[in-house]
Amino acid sequence: MAHATVTVDLVVRDLLHEDLAGCAWTGHVPFISAALGRRTAGAVDYLAVCGPSDLPVGVGGVDYSRQADAGWLWQFAVHPAFRSCGVGTLLVRSAEDRIRQRGLSFAELGVEQTNQGARRLYTRLGYEVTREQDEEWDALDAAGRPVRRRAHCVMMRRAL
Ligand SMILES: CC(C)(COP(=O)(O)OP(=O)(O)OC[C@H]1O[C@@H](n2cnc3c(N)ncnc32)[C@H](O)[C@@H]1OP(=O)(O)O)[C@@H](O)C(=O)NCCC(=O)NCCS
Repeated sequence: MAHATVTVDLVVRDLLHEDLAGCAWTGHVPFISAALGRRTAGAVDYLAVCGPSDLPVGVGGVDYSRQADAGWLWQFAVHPAFRSCGVGTLLVRSAEDRIRQRGLSFAELGVEQTNQGARRLYTRLGYEVTREQDEEWDALDAAGRPVRRRAHCVMMRRAL
């Protein structure tokens, strides 16, 4: 086995409809597509982190319609091959910049209680638990069929 360190320039930009073909790894392309449809009304920002190929290796949205004083981070995902390299951190910090640009002072998100990796990341980035509640949302199963998912979730918030 050989080891090497490679430095890669990453760009954070708006995710475009043309990017969706390269986002199958997220497992939720139809939901990203629906979110992009809401961007024209200004209700949503949707970000992509791309490497030199300009293909997204991380994506995530900010929904401004859930709370008056906060942007809601959701649908955050990093390609499995690029996890634990700081891409998720870059995405969250970039989303926070967008929220600040809107003049809002808080970022919020919900994470499944059992998703320890994501919770650890958000805690490290300064997010604090505000409450816990059961949540329901539309998702796709492994075969791409629509399903309704339910989980106990932890709500987290950070002052920007
Ligand atoms: C949660 C998720 C978005 C995090 O993305 P990520 O790119 O792995 O995040 P980061 O690399 O910034 O941070 C992850 C870990 O890598 C570590 N890391 C970051 N840069 C690093 C580097 N250069 N070298 C070594 N480790 C590094 C971080 O310290 C962090 O460690 P921790 O887990 O102990 O906190 C990703 O795991 C994912 O897509 N999961 C599946 C979908 C999901 O759960 N989404 C969240 C829903 S709320």
